[in-house]
Amino acid sequence: MSDAPLPLYRRPSPDTSVSSTLASAPLDLLRRYDKPGPRYTSYPTAVEFHDGFGDAEYRQRLAEAAQSAADPLSLYIHLPFCRERCSFCGCMVIITKKHEVAARYLDFLHREITMLADSLGGRRQVVQYHWGGGTPTYLTLPEMEALHAAVAQSFDVQPGAEVAIEVDPRVTTTEQLALLRQLGFNRVSFGVQDFTPEVQEAVNRIQSEDLTRRLFDAARRLGFESINIDLIYGLPLQTRESFGRSVDAVVSMRPDRVAAYSYAHVPWIRGNQKRIDPAMLPTGERKLELFGAVMDRFLAAGYVQIGMDHFALPHDELARAAAARRLHRNFMGYTTKPATDMVGLGVSAIGDVAGAFVQNTKKLSTYYADLDARRFPVERGYLLDPDDRLRRALITELMCNFRIEPPALEGRFGISFDDYFAAELGELAAGPMADGLIERQDQRFEVTPSGRLLVRNIAMIFDRHLRARTSQAPVFSRTI
Ligand SMILES: C[S@@+](CC[C@H](N)C(=O)[O-])C[C@H]1O[C@@H](n2cnc3c(N)ncnc32)[C@H](O)[C@@H]1O
Ligand code: SF4
Repeated sequence: MSDAPLPLYRRPSPDTSVSSTLASAPLDLLRRYDKPGPRYTSYPTAVEFHDGFGDAEYRQRLAEAAQSAADPLSLYIHLPFCRERCSFCGCMVIITKKHEVAARYLDFLHREITMLADSLGGRRQVVQYHWGGGTPTYLTLPEMEALHAAVAQSFDVQPGAEVAIEVDPRVTTTEQLALLRQLGFNRVSFGVQDFTPEVQEAVNRIQSEDLTRRLFDAARRLGFESINIDLIYGLPLQTRESFGRSVDAVVSMRPDRVAAYSYAHVPWIRGNQKRIDPAMLPTGERKLELFGAVMDRFLAAGYVQIGMDHFALPHDELARAAAARRLHRNFMGYTTKPATDMVGLGVSAIGDVAGAFVQNTKKLSTYYADLDARRFPVERGYLLDPDDRLRRALITELMCNFRIEPPALEGRFGISFDDYFAAELGELAAGPMADGLIERQDQRFEVTPSGRLLVRNIAMIFDRHLRARTSQAPVFSRTI
């Protein structure tokens, strides 16, 4: 094993030190930290959800949430349909070319919306509203209009709310985008991943740059406030050069935001990923090189880095919130609009209501049977205890704003930080602190530039459930 510095990245400017610091990271350090770990879109993570939490427990939570009628909500709707499956896809999707399947689903979704609104009483204000998938633009224009009308009948989407949709450019028309604008959608996210033809072939997703650019330009003309592009690094056959060219193409479009996801290879959960030959996947070190290609280019083009894997133009709300350390994170990703409760609708959707996580069934037949019986189609959930709430606050702050603030946690949770986390602090000192990934500065801990990419590893130290997990069965994707 070599200790030689990795000649990973060119340094774009004197203060963009993340990639340059990584450039001198010893190989054994990267290897030590490259292990399976959660992405912390929630704490505790979804693997802790259990089936002792169902319809009755969810109704209790909703009744409690209904008490705070003036508090804002986040609303997520899962539209799982896609015509074809990309081999890398880790999302919960239903592949069908039979449109009637989606039409039936929408009937039931409308019922779920009404049931939810009834249970929430007068609590109707929505500040974050998101259609995700699958492919929400699988729907026809009248279906999209009817779905939005059902939501608008039961909830009040507030002026200034973040109203967003995920879009697959291969199946989305300008007419659909125009309708979405008319309905009040102000954010759109395009799935791109990589423009290189060989990579696209290897992951069963053929999508030309030209087609993407045309739809992107249409979204700009229509006046979407924020346009995001998703990329994935770590896909088969990606090289630093070829991926760099894809990133250059994205930079030239000038999206307001970019998500550069690390490819999560979990074939034991997503059978479609078995079509990807593991021998074709870049190693952890090569993945860091690929991320370096992304980071160098976006930083040089004037973007700022948000959290682990996002970039935004300085005018974007997300960039401003990051600068002011006001970022939040939920299942929809980073956000500037914290809502005390988040409700999820549709198969597999996850909510976060009155101190509990709740997840809907992934099976269409169960979803329909439950709603027919006027039950919420809840498959599993998790009620947080006081220790979970404390660790959740700590991990969220770490993942969003790259710091831990002991005095704030002591004030809010009535603990003595150094006593409560004595074991974790020992591990932090021997590992990430000794390796220069996080530093203690007076009253707080700050993640260093090189620690940002490995922030999941730092969070893992504070994850009580992960520490208690003894099973060796694969659960999480790798941290690098
Ligand atoms: C649910 S997809 C919806 C977007 C739309 N269906 C499309 O593909 O354009 C949202 C994003 O998740 C990301 N994604 C999907 N599978 C992933 C995986 N295994 N690892 C990392 N990111 C993944 C992709 O970047 C994708 O654009
Ligand atoms: S990446 Fe998007 S289009 Fe491809 S299968 Fe997943 S959800 Fe569908």
